[in-house]
Amino acid sequence: MANMTVFGSQWGDEGKGKIVDLLSSEVQCVVRYQGGNNAGHTVIVNGQKYVLHVIPSGILHDGILCVISNGVVLDPFVFLTEIDNLNAKNIDTSPKRLFVSPKTHLIMPYHKVLDSARENMKSDGKIGTTGRGIGPCYEDKMARIGVRAGDLSDPNLVRQKIEIALKEKNALFKGLYNVDEMSVEEVFKEVMSIADRLLPYVQDTTELLYSLHKQGKSALFEGAQGVMLDIDHGTYPFVTSSNTICNNASVGSGFPSEYINEHIAIVKAYTTRVGAGPFPTELFDETGDFLREKGGEYGATTGRTRRCGWFDACVLRECYRICKPTTFALTKLDVLGGLDEIKICVAYSCEGKTLSYPPESAAGLAKCEPIFESMPGWKEDISSCSKWEELPENARKYVEKLEELIGVKAGFVSVGPDRNQTIRR
Ligand code: GDP
Ligand code: IMO
Ligand code: MG
Repeated sequence: MANMTVFGSQWGDEGKGKIVDLLSSEVQCVVRYQGGNNAGHTVIVNGQKYVLHVIPSGILHDGILCVISNGVVLDPFVFLTEIDNLNAKNIDTSPKRLFVSPKTHLIMPYHKVLDSARENMKSDGKIGTTGRGIGPCYEDKMARIGVRAGDLSDPNLVRQKIEIALKEKNALFKGLYNVDEMSVEEVFKEVMSIADRLLPYVQDTTELLYSLHKQGKSALFEGAQGVMLDIDHGTYPFVTSSNTICNNASVGSGFPSEYINEHIAIVKAYTTRVGAGPFPTELFDETGDFLREKGGEYGATTGRTRRCGWFDACVLRECYRICKPTTFALTKLDVLGGLDEIKICVAYSCEGKTLSYPPESAAGLAKCEPIFESMPGWKEDISSCSKWEELPENARKYVEKLEELIGVKAGFVSVGPDRNQTIRR
């Protein structure tokens, strides 16, 4: 059985959680390798809704091992709350099946304060972050002053690291952002209060993944966010602070890329974006409202309204040339039902030129006008279709058009949020 990545191809919220949950029964281990609780992955199983922020979506399948690896930034308080919520629904989250790498960086209380303070201070150019401290935590990781999960077994080291971090942060809080300074002792106490609960989960996950591989077991690497939110390849600076592309699964987990042979891009049948930044196919009319209402496009993490627009082939070409997915899962096709006409952006017009790919800068992308092709819609409700042949002809034609534009076949077509509402091809 193959090792695979499942990752977002657009601006996040493509339905990764649903597809990860679906495929979890075919692997022995599911790994989150980047991002943190900025993610919100909604999974619906037999009408019961689960929203996962840091724990891999594989947790809903009995016996599947779940790993939070080195590339993730982990808010320990959110992690423990998520465990409590899952336990309340009788999901096993014991340290026998859920593991955190000792190298995983912890989101500290001051990271959240800094994230919000920075956003609040901007009048122009707000990114619209989730406010979860993601960027500041990755900054400290790169500045080599971060606190890692494994550090919790050494309280003196944790105190020292907090002291170093707060020296800088407090200068900013007081001198620049005008927010309350934080006390080393209070932060230390707060963080150490969860050490006894967190430490049993901390294990060498590089070794775990390696030994599972040697036993012939397979792993699924669950991406968060999407290609256009990647720190290097997305619409910088309107991006998140990690590499969201599937290629990072190896670095973010310590598992050789050579062993990962399938890359499944999750592609929403239209486009959404939360937060600020250019979005050429955005709809400001009643069709945008239709997609938002029918698609339930409200953020699972912050509850914010998601901006909605037509499918953008330039974005998917970019995903293809960076990630080379082996297949894709098309999600939310059911949401398009009822529209007379469905538009697809096949290229951009930008300052007299026709472009097939997004320009490298956000300012450049903001100048792009979409060039649309139009396809006829369908009126039928497709949410109970379980076979490709059952889809209305125009829905099949739409999928085939996207396959042609993306350059790879759709292995899955999702027609509703439930695990069972998926057509496999
Ligand atoms: P993720 O962050 O990529 O996991 O996506 P989210 O969970 O944030 O957002 C996707 C939303 O669409 C969730 O509420 C899912 O339950 C829902 N969803 C997933 N696939 C489908 C689908 O094919 N049709 C419909 N109608 N909803 C879907
Ligand atoms: P999932 O995994 C959609 C967006 C935020 C903001 C930008 C930076 O559910 O697809 P951050 O808090 O990461 O510094 O915010 O990234 N963002 C997401 N948008 N889905 C997500 O995750 C996102 N995670 C971050 O809205 O624009
Ligand atoms: Mg989401």
